[in-house]
Amino acid sequence: MLPLGVPSSLQYYDPHPVVVRHANGAQMIDVDGNEYVDYNMGFGAVFAGHVNPIVRAAVEKQLDSGTLYVTPAEITAEVAELLAQRFQLPMWRFTNSGTEATMDAIRVARGATGRDKIVKVEGGYHGHHDAVMVSMKPPVDKAGPADNPIPVPSTAGVAKSAIADTIVIPYNDAEALERALAAHDVAAFIVEPVMENVGICMPQLGYLEAVRRITREHGTMLIFDEVKTGITAGWGGATGLFGVVPDLVCLAKSIGGGLPLGAFGGTHECMNHISNGRVVHMGTYNGNPLVMAAAVAVLSQVCTPEVTAATVARNSTLIAECDSIIARASLPAHTVQVGAKGCITWAENPIRNYRDYKETDFDIAFAQWIHGVNRGILLPPGLDEQWLISVMHTEEQALRYASVFGEFVDELIA
Ligand SMILES: Cc1ncc(COP(=O)(O)O)c(C=O)c1O
Repeated sequence: MLPLGVPSSLQYYDPHPVVVRHANGAQMIDVDGNEYVDYNMGFGAVFAGHVNPIVRAAVEKQLDSGTLYVTPAEITAEVAELLAQRFQLPMWRFTNSGTEATMDAIRVARGATGRDKIVKVEGGYHGHHDAVMVSMKPPVDKAGPADNPIPVPSTAGVAKSAIADTIVIPYNDAEALERALAAHDVAAFIVEPVMENVGICMPQLGYLEAVRRITREHGTMLIFDEVKTGITAGWGGATGLFGVVPDLVCLAKSIGGGLPLGAFGGTHECMNHISNGRVVHMGTYNGNPLVMAAAVAVLSQVCTPEVTAATVARNSTLIAECDSIIARASLPAHTVQVGAKGCITWAENPIRNYRDYKETDFDIAFAQWIHGVNRGILLPPGLDEQWLISVMHTEEQALRYASVFGEFVDELIA
């Protein structure tokens, strides 16, 4: 019926996926009646909380007026304006997923520059289209030297031409970027401002500024993939948090309140190529009013600056509790926080890139994850992700993670 029994390969994980029947706020209930505090929150898509009442009311109201017009609705411009305020870029288009957002942003960059090649970082995930399904999580023994990685296809079925056009560099290595752009034939550097599929990997001081300067000097478009960071990193995204504005930003997940929404925004220089018809951007469901209604609710009523700050503060409390548990047991682990997201990385020192991540202790990370699942703590499957505290997690729900983590550590050191 379903290959691997799931609708997306991301939902397949060992020992078996949790099959869910109900979600509300920060709570989930599986088909066996087990209750969880959800810290996955749709890989960060449900920052507003499951079935946030304000989002629900907005969607219900829009249902009375239709779900799809395929001709513009007033509400579309409202969402574009709300995103422009937050992400400091003036022009926006909508998609239905993060994959489409990065695919279309890359096309805009190629159209704007007349160049074919792109650069991405090793280990980075930007969706499942060919250009970026390269060196997503390559086996290290096939990936070449750490400072000059070989592009490795991430799935069968990626065209060889896509591999040939994608240059792979380490994250947090501005010199590698400079080398990759030296021939002035690269359309775009696509990068998450904070890598959020290896736990959380922070940009080192000055890295994003260097990336901005180098791409500009080489006529390469800088694309920030903020599908994961987005409005969970702070009101203005990672773009606002670090004060570095790219040429194009890709969004999805958290802006849609749990409904399928992606978006990409850009400078006039980039987006004029859509306005003048050189770059064609299409999609039947783009900007459908149902999802736009959810986005207006999320962006203007639910995830306000005040609520976002309070949620980040709640996450900081959780982080502090985890820090003290780690310190008490002198564990070779540390926490990382970006806005409302956090993780525990099982390594002494902060990771700088994918290769550092591969050196972390996966066995203990898996043991912690499954220990949590068995005690009602639902973290993202696999060990690549981070928790998200949504605006609907109560203090008690947010801190439940720390108390179960404390139990795990007690058992570990007993
Ligand atoms: C950084 C990043 N970009 C793009 C995508 C693709 O988004 P979607 O799953 O909505 O296609 C993801 C998905 O996890 C992501 O983490």
